[in-house]
Amino acid sequence: MSYAYLQCIEESCRLRQDPKRDAYHCVACGGLLEVKYDFDPFDPEELRETWHRRRLSGEPIDRSGVWRFRELIPFVDPATRIISLSEGSTPLVGTRRAGYWAGPVHLTIKHQGNNPTGSFKDLGMTACITRASSRNVRMVACASTGNTSSSMAAYAARAGIKALLFVPYRQISAAKLAQALDFGAIVVEVGDTFDQAFRLLREIAPELGLYLVNSVNPFRIEGQKTIVAEMMEQRAWRPPDYIVVPGGNLGNASAVGKGLQELLELGFIEKIPRVVVVQAAGANPFYQMISSGLPDLIPVEDPNTQATAIRIGRPANWKKARRVLEWTGGLSESVTDEEIFEAKRVLAEDGVGCEPASAATIAGVRKLCRAGKIERHADVVAVLTGNQLKDTDYIMRHRSASEENRQRWCVEPNLDALRRALDQALGVPV
Ligand code: F0G
Repeated sequence: MSYAYLQCIEESCRLRQDPKRDAYHCVACGGLLEVKYDFDPFDPEELRETWHRRRLSGEPIDRSGVWRFRELIPFVDPATRIISLSEGSTPLVGTRRAGYWAGPVHLTIKHQGNNPTGSFKDLGMTACITRASSRNVRMVACASTGNTSSSMAAYAARAGIKALLFVPYRQISAAKLAQALDFGAIVVEVGDTFDQAFRLLREIAPELGLYLVNSVNPFRIEGQKTIVAEMMEQRAWRPPDYIVVPGGNLGNASAVGKGLQELLELGFIEKIPRVVVVQAAGANPFYQMISSGLPDLIPVEDPNTQATAIRIGRPANWKKARRVLEWTGGLSESVTDEEIFEAKRVLAEDGVGCEPASAATIAGVRKLCRAGKIERHADVVAVLTGNQLKDTDYIMRHRSASEENRQRWCVEPNLDALRRALDQALGVPV
């Protein structure tokens, strides 16, 4: 059987540690940890067929787009109860206008908004809560800009574990808060930013014996990395030139990179796509570090963007994400809120809805193409991380009856008034 262990990511340390410990940081140097495996030898061709066959199975474990690839995450033994809501199996859809606008590039969308709680977080959460449940954890906790919290609340409810979440006061979308409440989580609104909430949670967690499910928990990354196996399978195992993700706490970029590296090492793919991380201009410490070649990340103390999901100034996983850019020859870009809105509008013209943070990916591709850093007609997959309905306040703010965008009309209930309004709205006499 394959064997899993934890290892420090710091080059100068690389200490192997006991996988039975519930740890987020190295005992010796405090570095981030990752799950590593001594994989059983296997034949990639046979395993691909097994994974393919499982798509037709009615077993809950096979219906999950994460556990269908369980040979890639062998950290649970076969008797473990899997906590799943049939996550993953999300569509890979082509674009028409968006690809032209962003490049032109050959742009496809991996839409993670089609997950049970409406975001990519469900992939990591099934892994992490399964782990927590197997360790008989009583209470899980996270700090969040909203999506991690709704996902944690759902999976914890499923496992029968209490959920405690810390969110910045009035800084997460109403829909995300409503989801967490609906799943019965205890919600503590604290501080103005995710960074403040996260710092306080980390300080209090040991005292209360809380099991953290933020992406510093290495088992979260394990679930999240399976996105690349699913994506490659959907593409007949032909990697694209680029995979683009929005960057907040940088767990997703880390997971995508780890997934790709393992697929390469295990012989499933022959080349590695370049990973691109796009941040919002008001919360872009990673972009700043990469673009100025700084050795360390300088936090943004007062992060600010309307893409609230990625309003993070002190990303915990920056070292893992930088390693991914180094491995893959990746890139980072920064986009303004206006550019994000424009990208979201163009996606909507293709019939693709998403939350603002997700649209940052396409805005970033456009900028990188214009700068000649992504070549025209490149094969690009953008990961849309969250569902359109995650932030309807944002849509209502941008798409109401303003002078330049007259989409919404309020009409007296009589035919004359209706004709006049339609006349103006459609620009033709009715
Ligand atoms: N997109 C969405 C919709 C998100 O919710 C997040 C992060 C990201 C992108 C960035 O991903 O943190 O892995 O770099 N949301 C976290 C949360 C922070 O609490 O829901 P990342």
